Amino acid sequence: MDTSNLFTPFSLKSLNLKNRIVMAPMTRSFSPNGIPTDTVASYYQKRAEGEVGLILSEGTVINRASASNDANVPHFYGNEALNGWQKVINEVHAAGGKMGPQIWHMGIMDNHHSGWVPPVPFEGPSGLNRPGNRNGNTMSEKDIEDTIIAFGQAAADAKRLGFDTIEIHGAHGYLIDQFFNPETNLRTDIYGGKTIKERNHFAIEVIKEIRKQVGNDFAIIMRVSQFKPSDYNYKLAKNPQELDAWLTPLVDAGVDILHCSQRRFWEPEFEKSDLNFAGWAKILTGVPTITVGSVGLSGDFFGAFAGESSEPTSLDELNRRFDRGDFDLVAVGRPLLSDPNWVAKIKAGKTNELVGFSKEALGELVL
Ligand SMILES: Cc1cc2nc3c(=O)[nH]c(=O)nc-3n(C[C@H](O)[C@H](O)[C@H](O)COP(=O)(O)O)c2cc1C
Repeated sequence: MDTSNLFTPFSLKSLNLKNRIVMAPMTRSFSPNGIPTDTVASYYQKRAEGEVGLILSEGTVINRASASNDANVPHFYGNEALNGWQKVINEVHAAGGKMGPQIWHMGIMDNHHSGWVPPVPFEGPSGLNRPGNRNGNTMSEKDIEDTIIAFGQAAADAKRLGFDTIEIHGAHGYLIDQFFNPETNLRTDIYGGKTIKERNHFAIEVIKEIRKQVGNDFAIIMRVSQFKPSDYNYKLAKNPQELDAWLTPLVDAGVDILHCSQRRFWEPEFEKSDLNFAGWAKILTGVPTITVGSVGLSGDFFGAFAGESSEPTSLDELNRRFDRGDFDLVAVGRPLLSDPNWVAKIKAGKTNELVGFSKEALGELVL
């Protein structure tokens, strides 16, 4: 299998990558009280040493009291947490890597199985995280304004600490996606409405505030998904026209790269074409895209949460699509949990040394 095209450089604004492989953002919950530890820094450093082109951090939450449902998810605010992140980026850079934090607000959540709850109720566009499931407050306009500013502050801090980019988490049913979704955004003010143009308003203000904070030359990635964890088959955009109406305004507001989250990268997004989500997003918006979803593995990541293992598989179909120009970057999740050297092994053609994914890798930070 010839993967040499994946090992070509990619440059855009502040991003200068040696290859096209991105570590997908993966929540690890190893940051007690929101503070990334030295082990967290070593975990990312190992992936940089293992030749990952761009590391996206696990989701790390902005400065809102109920942005997280888990005491061990890292914060991206406060001196202690930011000192932890400073160590992370210093170690990643020393190992020749590049990195951006995935900036996150979870929005309305189910309570965490640990029993921990944030000091104030969860907040979201209409208090819902799925139809009929209310578990928090409807955000006031002041809450929304403060949240936009907190996103901007996190991005400014990322740039100040020396990160190479940031990723806005707009996917998977969390806060920003709760605004996109007509089933969880029932607002009648400027942040809600029947059309995606209206429900894009919050995301657009977040993007513009971040752009204002980081300047024009800093690359902004945004992650989006059609699916929700509560509905794997959900499609916010049912055809290319609707996808265009959703994504192009986000790009116009300042997004440089769209990270198109899918469970399985080979699945066509719409009928009558084999283009996947990242393929359509690139054609419609004109910006570079990142694909993701079971690259090099036999099973998908929802199976992983249910305890399923996955075996290594061929990258031929990925290469076919990459060589055709469907997307610019390829994110890999679970293979990098178990094996910091997955990218180096692919580069060297050592496919017999690939280890696949087993659920044990979720329980520790494999160094
Ligand atoms: C343990 C774990 C944690 C994850 N946490 C996040 C997260 O914080 N943010 C996010 O956008 N996606 C998250 N994801 C989804 C991954 O980024 C990725 O899209 C998914 O695992 C599919 O890629 P893969 O098949 O290569 O694993 C997580 C996935 C796993 C397995």
